[in-house]
Amino acid sequence: MVTNIFSKKLDSATTLFKNEQALYPDFAPSELVGRESIIQTLASIISPAANGMRASNVFVYGPPGTGKTICCKYVLSQLSEYSSKTLPIYVNCWQNDSRQSVLSLISQKAGEVLPRRGISSQEVFSRTLESLWQQKKIPVIVLDEADRLFWGGEDKLLYDLARTWETSKVHSCVILVTNDSELLSKADARVRSSMIGKEIEFKAYTPLELKKIVESRAKIALVDGTYDSEVIALCAAAGARANGDARVSLQALWLAARNANEAGHSKISVDDAKKAFAAQPTSAQIKRERDEQFLEEPEKKLISLIVEQGGSISLSKLYEAYSKKYGASERSIRNYLRKLEFKGLLSTQSTDSNDDQSNSKKVVKVIE
Ligand SMILES: Nc1ncnc2c1ncn2[C@@H]1O[C@H](COP(=O)(O)OP(=O)(O)OP(=O)(O)O)[C@@H](O)[C@H]1O
Ligand SMILES: [Mg+2]
Repeated sequence: MVTNIFSKKLDSATTLFKNEQALYPDFAPSELVGRESIIQTLASIISPAANGMRASNVFVYGPPGTGKTICCKYVLSQLSEYSSKTLPIYVNCWQNDSRQSVLSLISQKAGEVLPRRGISSQEVFSRTLESLWQQKKIPVIVLDEADRLFWGGEDKLLYDLARTWETSKVHSCVILVTNDSELLSKADARVRSSMIGKEIEFKAYTPLELKKIVESRAKIALVDGTYDSEVIALCAAAGARANGDARVSLQALWLAARNANEAGHSKISVDDAKKAFAAQPTSAQIKRERDEQFLEEPEKKLISLIVEQGGSISLSKLYEAYSKKYGASERSIRNYLRKLEFKGLLSTQSTDSNDDQSNSKKVVKVIE
């Protein structure tokens, strides 16, 4: 019988992975290594809400890949399982970056029908609070990547949420999550004071913790016997090199397994893992990749064009190259650039100390 041309590749491509998705960034593991006491602290701060009482707001901060998102999502899911007196809501502020879109999302989660026009999100939110008050439900809202709200002055949202008791007799509980440990100092005094003393720091993972995280994920993702402790140690080291970032370690494991698959190995070799270690993007690059999924198409195209040019390009060349490739006007390109700078993904610098403002003297750079 003639062998099908796809069979060899497919066979080898599926041998090492038992569950490849377990190594994707959005996988939610049931075991959170080394974060038991942090989870307990967070749960005890918000536990009054589970009994229909007022709970404090919480400020959660720490460097990338330290488990903030995964732990907050875990706590919310436990809360919804345990109590019907709360309405747990997770908001990614990269995706919902304005006060209006966050208020709409909260209303939607509360089951409020959003009319297409004629009524503001503020009014819909008031109606939502009214209905929460009637149901005696407390919204517990995780605002992840909350620094995003501060960039565009959308942090007034925090003030709205801090005042729900006064406006509607609804206690809301907000969990603010960010990389920026100084974020609270930029917040309204009232918001700040509602979080004082309720701060949870996620510290960078130690090499040993990273090892345990990689090991426990390898058990779920890979076929038994296809990796050994040296491979685990190398992947853990990739995360340790990126300042204790578990995301980097897990991506290294995924890359190592992919390398082994592509080479047709029945086991991940140390070389496969070393290759993954060497090719491993930094945590900033991984994060940028993740953030980019929320960008508009022209914004994505602009970034890839600059990356193709090695990460920086003069403004005049960028206008020329982009309009040649995609036919956009200089004005709309300027507009996208402004948005990307605002999102902290690009910077424009002048290369001329004599204050020459011409576009050829300005360089647009992708921020690493
Ligand atoms: N304690 C842990 N146990 C198992 N997996 C973990 C743990 N901590 C983090 N991870 C994994 O590492 C990755 C990054 O975690 P997470 O997204 O929660 O980090 P983060 O602190 O929110 O990072 P960022 O600040 O960049 O948003 C995820 O894939 C998550 O599953
Ligand atoms: Mg996160």
